Amino acid sequence: MSARAQIGVTGLAVMGRNLARNFARHGYTVAVHNRSFAKTESLVAEHGDEGELVPSESMADFVASLERPRKVVIMVKAGAPTDAVIAELVPLLEAGDIVIDAGNAHFPDTIRREAELREHGLHFVGSGVSGGEEGALNGPSIMPGGSRESYEVLGPILESIAARVDGVPCCTYVGPDGAGHFVKMVHNGIEYADMQLIAEAYDLLRLGLGASAREIGEIFAEWNTGDLESFLIEITADVLAHTDAVTGAAFVDVVADRAEQKGTGRWTVQNALDLGVPITGIAEATFARALSGSTPQREAARGVLVAGTSDVPVTDRAAFVEDVRLALYASKVVAYSQGFDQIAAASAERGWGIDRGAMARIWRGGCIIRARFLDRITEAYERTPELPLLLADEYFADAVGRGVPAWRRIVARAAATGVPTPAFSSSLAYYDGVRAERLPANLIQAQRDFFGAHTYQRTDRAGTFHTDWTGDRTEHDA
Ligand code: 6PG
Repeated sequence: MSARAQIGVTGLAVMGRNLARNFARHGYTVAVHNRSFAKTESLVAEHGDEGELVPSESMADFVASLERPRKVVIMVKAGAPTDAVIAELVPLLEAGDIVIDAGNAHFPDTIRREAELREHGLHFVGSGVSGGEEGALNGPSIMPGGSRESYEVLGPILESIAARVDGVPCCTYVGPDGAGHFVKMVHNGIEYADMQLIAEAYDLLRLGLGASAREIGEIFAEWNTGDLESFLIEITADVLAHTDAVTGAAFVDVVADRAEQKGTGRWTVQNALDLGVPITGIAEATFARALSGSTPQREAARGVLVAGTSDVPVTDRAAFVEDVRLALYASKVVAYSQGFDQIAAASAERGWGIDRGAMARIWRGGCIIRARFLDRITEAYERTPELPLLLADEYFADAVGRGVPAWRRIVARAAATGVPTPAFSSSLAYYDGVRAERLPANLIQAQRDFFGAHTYQRTDRAGTFHTDWTGDRTEHDA
């Protein structure tokens, strides 16, 4: 076996298969391997004409077919299957080789694997890859972590197969060890928030206007020509226009209302809790999926819990649609702002040095959350690299500010009419919380000091204090 392949892919389910084809279509000689050889053979049989594919039945032959430093992309299920492949691969590799995990790994696993492989003189690149099957084939957004040294070799290859926007590849070096998978995790958290916000907008339109799926689809199609232009809005319009072949009903009307998840949204929320970063939009979106699947609770509540709603008729249809659009835009900015805060906090804690503007840039194309307004986010971080709050950037403060009255009308209306809008409502609450002159956290601190002597700080002088609540209520330095 001559070592001639420039890159290898092991794990040829649909994502791996499409990534391998993408490399081959870009002129790379691609070594391909899968646990069952049948998949490897079918890939070569069906797509061998798209470029140079070098199939191997054994892992040893696969490794032997790669030129050095070897670059091996692992595209298998996150968790134990990834560890199993790494264990089989590592003894066959030599110092300087690069192992790329392109699955949706949990970033602490990536940190562990990077350290383990470093011991063997190997580079481990945990890379986020977004865009689903279609992106893997035609250009995903790629978020590689690991050593800078490995990016020098690998970067140009990944950049050449990534999506491009205005000629700029949607791939850049993210940061050391787990940084790439971390950023992909937050991307997915934002994806959850984005999807939930769109779903709430759909529900508000459905119930407020009594509109059909098709009519709402037309509204989304219209929205996709403005500030909200994005992949998720575009596919929403498409989905809403789709008719179920079996019943002839609107497709969405026959889909069960229980949203599932594979776990990346949950990880994002768990990590935000550890970091103490409020990502309320993402958290509400994750919990909204959980609520939708809480079947016994929903059955127990249905018909039992009083609505207590009031009827708020929509008098001006166009004005209402515009209000929902503005509320959606504002809530979406909050979700992104929170997600970028989480990236900043993790980056600071772990010394990753993640450039948030560059992350927004590589999310402009290829990935699920690709959207027109990511350009504005990049510009905001270019203006102020250490921007403490995306929402407060001059562009977004203004853009969101213009929609605030509409946002309030929509959230108030949702509450009055009983439409559950956890993401819209919590985003507005966050907006009001973060801009508040004074929050009621003063009272929380006083309560904590009262029952647990947890101490507090004062507004009028420095120091830490405790009041003797059970005694004479004098104040002491703590
Ligand atoms: C992407 C997506 C993708 C993810 C799903 C699943 O960026 O291409 O984020 O990686 O697998 O969208 O998400 P849930 O199953 O958790 O909804």
